[in-house]
Amino acid sequence: MSVLSILLLTFLAPTNSTRAARLLEVLYEWKDIEFAFPSPYAREVLIKTRAYIPGNSFPIDVDAWLQGEDQVFVTIPRAKPGVPSTLNTVVTSENGKPLLLPYPDWSWHREGDCDGITSVFRVQIDQCGRLWVVDSGTVNIFATVRKRICQPQLLVFNLKNKKLLLRYRIPDSVLEPHSLLTTVVADVLDVNGRCREAFAYIADVTGYGLIVVDAHREKSWRVVSNYFYAYPLHGHFELNNEEFDLMDGVIGLALSPPQNDKKDKTLYFHSLASVRESWVSAALLRNESNFPDFSNAVADKFFVSQGTRAGQSAPSAMNAEGSALFFSVMTKNSLNCWNPKLPYNENNIVEVDRDDITFQFASGLKVIRDRSGVEWVWALTCRFQNIMVEKVNKEEVNYRILMAPVAELVKGTSCAAQRSSSYATPSNPIAHKTRYR
Ligand SMILES: *[C@@H]1O[C@H](CO)[C@@H](O)[C@H](O)[C@H]1NC(C)=O
Repeated sequence: MSVLSILLLTFLAPTNSTRAARLLEVLYEWKDIEFAFPSPYAREVLIKTRAYIPGNSFPIDVDAWLQGEDQVFVTIPRAKPGVPSTLNTVVTSENGKPLLLPYPDWSWHREGDCDGITSVFRVQIDQCGRLWVVDSGTVNIFATVRKRICQPQLLVFNLKNKKLLLRYRIPDSVLEPHSLLTTVVADVLDVNGRCREAFAYIADVTGYGLIVVDAHREKSWRVVSNYFYAYPLHGHFELNNEEFDLMDGVIGLALSPPQNDKKDKTLYFHSLASVRESWVSAALLRNESNFPDFSNAVADKFFVSQGTRAGQSAPSAMNAEGSALFFSVMTKNSLNCWNPKLPYNENNIVEVDRDDITFQFASGLKVIRDRSGVEWVWALTCRFQNIMVEKVNKEEVNYRILMAPVAELVKGTSCAAQRSSSYATPSNPIAHKTRYR
């Protein structure tokens, strides 16, 4: 073997800078999103009328219901013109390609019809077989002037029969002019009862707030906190050789299981432009009196970590036991976990998997229980950095849905589940009760 070829081999050998996933497996992938149009003719008509512009649909979130007939949901916000459907399930074409089928059907997706669905970033399926959808009502998000063409709304569907159970239009009284509602977490208080006592916590990523919706009483209020803002030092992103600035606030929301005597839950949250994690009691959020007139009477009950993660992160999700908060670190193309019993810092944040090709910009993340009760992390990755700088390469795979078993991911780490009772710690789940000033 010549010296030159040895040198070449050295250069071509994988280095630390390209790492492949050990556990995350790709379930579906797309170069460009393809829809299940009723017919080739219907597709042509939608292209002619510019209701469908190929290349302009990029997915953000995934969730799956694996209890009845499998349903995998994919959201596509109307960030650019020509998105034919904003909420979909995955179906498979005759030649085995994954296609997106509008949910509940095509008639709900006419842009401008405010009795349909306008522009969805994220969804969440609850333990009662319901799909919670937050519709931002906002289109052309990448234009200089984005347009709120419909009132933002919370929709809840029954997954068994696709019936709409609730349409709650979010009133102007809890919105800001720049509001953009992107993430929803459902909190059902009576999962073993009638599933009626249910709340939604909705992240307002550019209004820098949280909206709490009491779904049963059809009421809502706005929660403000300093920790919902973008952190200026982390508004610049350098991801896989692309750079952009984005001062996005609260985006990642994850709810813990009930803890302690009071069976209270903790909502973990962070801003996109940040490297810290925050948390607050869910019971506190559900008490409207704590937040009179866009103010926060309980600011000292909101916490932020003193420690940091290695880079920015978008969504998060927690396992049922509450021993693992999962989140991506986008600058490292990695999936990580943290056990909230430990202080949030780089010593206790565990990188559980990473892939420099398939795990670029996780924009959707869920923990999903399958039919046999096994928990899986599901992720949707969309290489969002390429979308931001308008460099999406249609010749390569851009969008993927990946999954990995929770138990395998956390095996041997501090995020591994203990006995289920061990999660309950008195009053404050965090070792160091710290506020960041
Ligand atoms: C709700 O919050 C108010 C004001 O902070 C407080 O006085 C009241 O006790 C709370 N109610 C409950 C049920 O915790």
